[in-house]
Amino acid sequence: MHHEEDNGVSNNSGNRPFEDVLEANLQRRRFLKNGVTAAVGAAVMGSTGFLQAFPGNGKAKGVGKGLGPGAGKPLLGFTPVSLAQGTGPEPAISPEYQYDVILPWGDPIVPGGTAFNEADLPLPPTQQAEAVGIGHDGMWFFPIRDAGKPRYGWDDDGLLNPWNGQSLGNGPVKNRGVLCMNNEFGTNFHVLRKSVPESLDDVRSSQHAHGVTVVELQRSPGKNGSWNVVASDLARRIHVNTPVDFSGPAAGHPDLMNNSLDEPRGTANNCAMGYTPWGTYLTCEENFNGYFGTEDPGWSPSAKQARYGISDGGFGYGWHLFDERFDLASADYANEHNRFGWVVEIDPMDPQAKPVKRTALGRKKNEGATCHVAEDGRVIVYNGDDERFDYIYKYVSAEPWQQMRANGESPLDRGTLYAARFNSDGSGEWLELSLANPAIAAEFADYGEMLINARRAADLAGATPMDRPEWATVAPDGQVYFALTNNSRRTVPGPANPLAPNADGHIVRWTETRGHSGDEFSWDIFVIAEDTHGTEESFADPDGIWCDPDGRLFIQTDGGQKDGLQNQMLVADTGTAEIRRLFTGVPGCEITGITVTPDRRTMFINVQHPGNGDPGSSSFPAPTGSGAIPRDATIVITRKDGGIIGS
Ligand code: FEO
Ligand code: CA
Ligand code: CA
Ligand code: CA
Repeated sequence: MHHEEDNGVSNNSGNRPFEDVLEANLQRRRFLKNGVTAAVGAAVMGSTGFLQAFPGNGKAKGVGKGLGPGAGKPLLGFTPVSLAQGTGPEPAISPEYQYDVILPWGDPIVPGGTAFNEADLPLPPTQQAEAVGIGHDGMWFFPIRDAGKPRYGWDDDGLLNPWNGQSLGNGPVKNRGVLCMNNEFGTNFHVLRKSVPESLDDVRSSQHAHGVTVVELQRSPGKNGSWNVVASDLARRIHVNTPVDFSGPAAGHPDLMNNSLDEPRGTANNCAMGYTPWGTYLTCEENFNGYFGTEDPGWSPSAKQARYGISDGGFGYGWHLFDERFDLASADYANEHNRFGWVVEIDPMDPQAKPVKRTALGRKKNEGATCHVAEDGRVIVYNGDDERFDYIYKYVSAEPWQQMRANGESPLDRGTLYAARFNSDGSGEWLELSLANPAIAAEFADYGEMLINARRAADLAGATPMDRPEWATVAPDGQVYFALTNNSRRTVPGPANPLAPNADGHIVRWTETRGHSGDEFSWDIFVIAEDTHGTEESFADPDGIWCDPDGRLFIQTDGGQKDGLQNQMLVADTGTAEIRRLFTGVPGCEITGITVTPDRRTMFINVQHPGNGDPGSSSFPAPTGSGAIPRDATIVITRKDGGIIGS
């Protein structure tokens, strides 16, 4: 989602950028053209001491570094979508590839449900609650064995479990799975075909279009079998009115309680995601502030509310007009806004399991929640807070995750939360957010209150204000890549954010120098989007990123592209920084969400807000000019020769 004009800068903490720095960064930028790797950079910049600490960099020569089936071959073997091809009104894909469209907004989540008809908009709330939501965003595919008990695994056909690099060598799981997909948002214009809700039914229709869609997919038999939604006990919708639980240190905190004593409900603005080593899905609540509002002229935001951008008008959804939960002036729901802004865990294999808001990860505008298993067995969650001048976070479980689960404890309920400080010399520190920090202890009565106000804790700890942190991914060599989408309001360069203003974003990466559960890292910049403009690698506003087990970095964009391009998905070789364009979308859309089948021969991505809901801009997936209202949908990508996606 991009809505810069809707959101002011809510970080006024004074952790602002570091005037003393950035001769080094500014010089460096000139040598980063097309993402020249550190091996080259070090030759130029060695005297700064800036690049010495990157043992993983610069050694690959476009050859598969991973252990997967592509090892030993060039990582990028496909013909790119050219600049000229990527500017049209319909999607374009590399000539070696093909795509299908599935899961358009409004289709029933199981076959036989009420069919979508745009003449029915706004959909009756009961229909929308059993239909694919809108605003398709982060998602993950959880394989199911063809026979027997559902289980999580990547162990198909000798492929690798990404958590330990080992093949588990078990039977086929590549043709069936549960897809959990976030439905981030849909404007009233798109969902209701009116700017303001006129009834509680309108509000419910909008609320039920948000949240998460869980469907079972199967591939029809045959070499080119297509993926289809099938009848399944696992299919469900989780939306703004679905009962949820809170867990972790802030659960039961008075600041999460309302006078109404209602049970917690709902998830909203579900942006990116994560997947845990124990087979669950993490959905992340991002711009939750936009759904709250009030007509009470006497209301004004507290400092805590202002830090999260909560305002009387919100983003104009108007839910508060008919649903008191979202009225900021309601005495009965005074803390409802504190119940949003969390990472929420969903068990895709248990449709009865309530979603659980994991408070140990902190309340922010969570973009995603990228899990990684550290060298010592603890689970790591990398997590960005997508706002100009907000922060990158890391959660480290208190003990190895398997041990915690064996003891009946969630690894996401007890651990340490950190925020990142990037230093100008290329080093970085993870700053612990806890009451052990006197500045934090001076402001918060207890750890739960601190987690509810995690942004403020990171302000007080001295975290580095970033250019809108979006997705994170961990490459097979252990380096962490992080997309910083842009920052139109940066006036002074800062560490790891070298452009002012940063119109088009960049991707930073780092090595955890004491292991992934440690508190020190060394950072580098992988690519600056502006440097690609005017070349065949042109892109802007990186948002979704995912690195495959061979070291291919998939880059998805959300924002005004240059060179006439639509929003797109590209693939970068993390060894050479070569970038090729695999797919381009349609006018008005962003490309987001990425997941693969275990064999990586099918990839799913999303076209979000095609035409921004306006058939005058796009009717996707119907043909341009057909007049149909555009619908967010999922793109199923395969290589015509059945090869690994990205190869
Ligand atoms: Fe929902 Fe930061 O994109
Ligand atoms: Ca979005
Ligand atoms: Ca974005
Ligand atoms: Ca995003």
